[in-house]
Amino acid sequence: MQEFPIYVSKISKKFVKTRGSRFKRSREKKTVQALDKVDLQVHKGEIFGLLGPNGAGKTTLVKILTTIVIPDHGIARINGFDVVKESRQARASFGATIGGGERSTYWKMTGLENLIFFGRMYGLNKKEAKKRAIHLLEQMQLTDKATERVENYSTGMKMKVNFARSLISNAPILIFDEPTLGLDPSFARDLRLYIKNVLQKEEGKTILLTTHYMAEADQLSDRVALIDNGKIIDLSTPEQLKLRVKEQEVIKIKTSDSFSYGTLEDISGILEVHHHDDYIRIHTPDSSQIMLSVLEKLKEKDIRIQSIDVETPTLEDAFIQLTGRGLTDSKEEV
Ligand SMILES: Nc1ncnc2c1ncn2[C@@H]1O[C@H](COP(=O)(O)OP(=O)(O)OP(=O)(O)O)[C@@H](O)[C@H]1O
Ligand SMILES: [Mg+2]
Repeated sequence: MQEFPIYVSKISKKFVKTRGSRFKRSREKKTVQALDKVDLQVHKGEIFGLLGPNGAGKTTLVKILTTIVIPDHGIARINGFDVVKESRQARASFGATIGGGERSTYWKMTGLENLIFFGRMYGLNKKEAKKRAIHLLEQMQLTDKATERVENYSTGMKMKVNFARSLISNAPILIFDEPTLGLDPSFARDLRLYIKNVLQKEEGKTILLTTHYMAEADQLSDRVALIDNGKIIDLSTPEQLKLRVKEQEVIKIKTSDSFSYGTLEDISGILEVHHHDDYIRIHTPDSSQIMLSVLEKLKEKDIRIQSIDVETPTLEDAFIQLTGRGLTDSKEEV
């Protein structure tokens, strides 16, 4: 049987949370089902996105896959190795960054020393480790910081060196928990391109990544699992997920002259029209079917158009439709 590089079957995990200060009598314990019978399989060479709001269970799944947390039930295998029973072999098969994981490098050492150290730990000889470390620092645009201590790095630089650390062993499977969180938009973009073009396309890695940015999941993933409250609520390609959203397309037209709804009334295929100050939004199941008629009608009435945009459903729309709330609506109680 061809084994999936990442295989997760019926994984569940509960945590006990204590509320209130440890010095108070009014402490109260509460269990949270962080993961509830999660199933997923990642194919070789695929980028698999796990998309969900805060507290959905993403990091918990990543911690189970990376052998940091032991599940209560279920089986998870990395490269065919059981993460509980064969954790040593499983660990040798992946590189990973874990949420808020800037701490996984040694702050008293330089970026270069850190990467060489981890390279040596993964069995590279001195020369190989140094060569790979230099190469990765360059890829992460950290060359000029290579000999500075990590404690002096900014948060984003620590994230980058942590990302480089996950690549040092050249493992076939990569697990990234919120890889672009805290990075400036331009480097976040470069990193997404690097993940897609270099790690997936050139090097053929199998990648599982978590994110709560729908655009990131959309851009990177071959398949996406939507996770909420510890449960996978949908699993599909980004395109199919978006197709399933019953939300219609919206044509947004900005005009120099105002006009009444009646102008467009007799065009079939228009579901709703909303007037705003200087633009209108036309809801339709398919913008391409009505676009020409809308333009002709406006021309007929001598209404000048300044701009036209078609908004298609996003993964966030899909998420809202499936869960009733947005990706940025936190589940966490404060
Ligand atoms: N060590 C722990 N002890 C108690 N509860 C925990 C622990 N780790 C996670 N949890 C709880 O489990 C749930 C899932 O948390 P998890 O960190 O997996 O979510 P997440 O999807 O990664 O969220 P985020 O987007 O904020 O990183 C949350 O309710 C969280 O508070
Ligand atoms: Mg997390």
